[in-house]
Amino acid sequence: MCGIVGIVGANQVATRLVDGLRRLEYRGYDSAGVAVLTETGDLKRRRARGKIAELEARLAADPLDGGVGIAHTRWATHGAPTEDNAHPHASGPVAIVHNGIIENYQILRDELLAAGFIFQSQTDSEVIAHLIASGIKSGLNMDEAFSAAVERLRGAYALAAVNAEEPGRIWAARAGSPLVVGIGDGEGFVGSDSLALAGWTNRVIYLEEGDRAVVTSQGARVFDSDGREVVRPVQISRAVAGFADKGEYRHFMEKEIHEQPDAVARTLARYVDIDAGRFRTDALLDWANVDRLVATACGTAYYATAVAKFWFERQARLAVEIDVASEFRYRDPVISKRDAALLVSQSGETADTLAALRYCRQMGSRTLAVVNVAESSIAREADAVAMTEAGPEIGVASTKAFTAQLAALVCLAVGAGRARGVLDERAERELARVVLETPRLINMALAAEPEIERIAHRLTAARDVLYVGRGVFHPLALEGALKLKEISYIHAEGYAAGELKHGPIALIEEGTPVVVTAPYDGLFSKTLSNIQEVSARGAEVILITDSRGAEEADNTAAQTVMMPECPEIVRPLVAAVPVQMLAYHIAALKGTDVDQPRNLAKSVTVE
Ligand code: F6R
Repeated sequence: MCGIVGIVGANQVATRLVDGLRRLEYRGYDSAGVAVLTETGDLKRRRARGKIAELEARLAADPLDGGVGIAHTRWATHGAPTEDNAHPHASGPVAIVHNGIIENYQILRDELLAAGFIFQSQTDSEVIAHLIASGIKSGLNMDEAFSAAVERLRGAYALAAVNAEEPGRIWAARAGSPLVVGIGDGEGFVGSDSLALAGWTNRVIYLEEGDRAVVTSQGARVFDSDGREVVRPVQISRAVAGFADKGEYRHFMEKEIHEQPDAVARTLARYVDIDAGRFRTDALLDWANVDRLVATACGTAYYATAVAKFWFERQARLAVEIDVASEFRYRDPVISKRDAALLVSQSGETADTLAALRYCRQMGSRTLAVVNVAESSIAREADAVAMTEAGPEIGVASTKAFTAQLAALVCLAVGAGRARGVLDERAERELARVVLETPRLINMALAAEPEIERIAHRLTAARDVLYVGRGVFHPLALEGALKLKEISYIHAEGYAAGELKHGPIALIEEGTPVVVTAPYDGLFSKTLSNIQEVSARGAEVILITDSRGAEEADNTAAQTVMMPECPEIVRPLVAAVPVQMLAYHIAALKGTDVDQPRNLAKSVTVE
């Protein structure tokens, strides 16, 4: 969850390390720090609470010189986000940065305290620095002390270490958390992902589970979990620096909402052969011989699977079980070889989703990952990968990655339908034509922004907001509520419209906002009854619908947001846009930190 970066070279590294951290800020942003080995052989640190800009200011006031260093941006797990808890942690000549959770840290801490080590932080990570230092104290060299320390760690870690008494090297290890090594010209690097190294080198080694590495300015030596030296391939990373630009927008989230027509178009282009009117999904899975799809993900990506369930069941008559990965992985799910596992993740690094993937592989089922980051752990470990083409998503609240996931999933569902003989050639061709209309329809949905902004003014003071929908719009109600709470800090819940009467309607009082997503369809009249029921109890209904729905609702709702008329299958992709814009404008009006909301991080690499 935290971000790690390290450079071993000849030139000054402190400010470059901060540049690397900025590319990793999406992983956590409650404190940050840098440790550098100075030319005089000292280990020096600068750390700051808060965002990377605070660390930058600290370094500007009190610079660090040196050609070897490690740095960290933190998302707190153990210990509050204070300067003392910020990494790097040091012990004597050793400093470390760590991403993950050390499960046996209490035992190690007690042992190290008894041996006279003094702890400066409440973190689990600090034990690593003292463990290495204790090895050195007992006569080991850094190679030996680092390996001995790593062997004692239980839990998940990606870590990097330096030693002022053995300069010119960075020691790195991974188990459960991703870590890459970069090979530059006369420089070596480590980073949580290849994006951290973008701009410095595109030649990267993805460390495998249990790997350890010693990185110098001339290259890297990698050792597997048994300590055997191994050759890991040097790959060319596609990550590019310089994307982190908001352009004309106030926030990345706003920019990313507006990038959706392109993100969806690029994703569709991967899976739809426009000329042939065919879906290119056959190579991903033997769809005809799958009994059941077990779809697992977290957060917004999970809601994408909940929408996709409708598509797979309707278009492919394929049974789909969905679950959040954090529950799935611990409930001993029954998986057979005839099942296929579908893992959906923007980052491709979400710890629970990765664990679910590994579980399904172990059970012998084929795994298909829908991911946005080609070099991610989930992409590398899945049997097959269906990429989304959203491009880097910087805003912590997922927007374009979600609609790109939906775009990939609708293609997989239709492709599966064809492969399973549920859809014939004509139906496939027609659906190809229909889904390719989505980017245009999303563009039209974006045109409702001024109206949505006007409505947002009325909701900034709300304490609770309910989101309601039926069928595919139920997951969208859940997604709308998630979006609103995570960026505006307003309490929100999503419900299936038909469930209101079974409890949630008790929450309605005069003026309670209820956001209903309901384009006109066969269930519209049922949802309209629910709108009437809550309106009669004082709710202020905001209805997201199309012109036919607006006509039928005939002023039952206090506010109406118009979305374009759409073919049924693509409606969730289009309806996602007003839902996102509403949350965005409420949060922007409230002045919250929209792109980096409190307590969150973009990539959740701890369980
Ligand atoms: C919410 C959001 C999160 C992520 C979730 C999974 O806006 O972004 O709920 O969807 O943390 O992340 P990925 O897709 O990277 O696995």
